[in-house]
Amino acid sequence: MDEVERKAELGESPKLWPGPGQGLVVPGYRRDHEAVDPPHDWPDYRGTILRHPKRPLVPIPNTLSDVTGPALGEDRVGEADFDLTAGFAGEPQGQRLVVHGRVLDGNGRPVRDTLVEVWQANAAGRYWHKVDTHPAPLDPNFTGVGRCMTDSEGRYRFVTVRPGAYPWGNHYNAWRPAHIHFSLFGRAFAQRLVTQMYFPDDPMFPYDPIFNAVRDHQDRKRLICEFDFDATTPEWALGYRFDIVLRGREQTPFEEAH
Ligand SMILES: [Fe+2]
Repeated sequence: MDEVERKAELGESPKLWPGPGQGLVVPGYRRDHEAVDPPHDWPDYRGTILRHPKRPLVPIPNTLSDVTGPALGEDRVGEADFDLTAGFAGEPQGQRLVVHGRVLDGNGRPVRDTLVEVWQANAAGRYWHKVDTHPAPLDPNFTGVGRCMTDSEGRYRFVTVRPGAYPWGNHYNAWRPAHIHFSLFGRAFAQRLVTQMYFPDDPMFPYDPIFNAVRDHQDRKRLICEFDFDATTPEWALGYRFDIVLRGREQTPFEEAH
């Protein structure tokens, strides 16, 4: 990995204006995850049949504007945005959780100042979204979205409730295992990674084609958070830890952003 890639992965500003005669250096956004990430075409996941690309992808080199803007603007993230249970008239239904972890590069170094966004169903397995009309109750005290920035050690933390499983019509009696969607931004909107976090020992794992689209057992394990007694708060919440690794042997599987 060269210096520009290293800095891009770390979220540091790359050296875009090198010395005389060296030309403009635009950092790439290399994807070397193909063996780990789910394939575009996964027949068991019916939605991929029509929407996957039919031809090999053509890498488009990053341009200067891809990696320099639009800027994220950290000040747009509110201090309370990490708490999905706050900001409503009352408490949401469900088991309260602390979900936390670190964002790390392929060498185990923290990735700081990264926007982490999450979205999830409520405790009954219902999304606050117009296309989710299955007969489970909406919760007036829970919309299921949150965000925060990683700190200098790459740490993030959310307060939420445990999401329920929900039916999704992909096949007979199809239910998604409980999960929380994660999105990570680098230093520009062109640098985005999306994944899902699952909970230990979910009985729906063998039946879920999205989870199993990550083909290797060890890779799938990196999508499952672990119970964290130290993050569990007496009389208040259970704690779970989910570290996200951008590349390397311990890389978290990522899906295509959509
Ligand atoms: Fe989902």
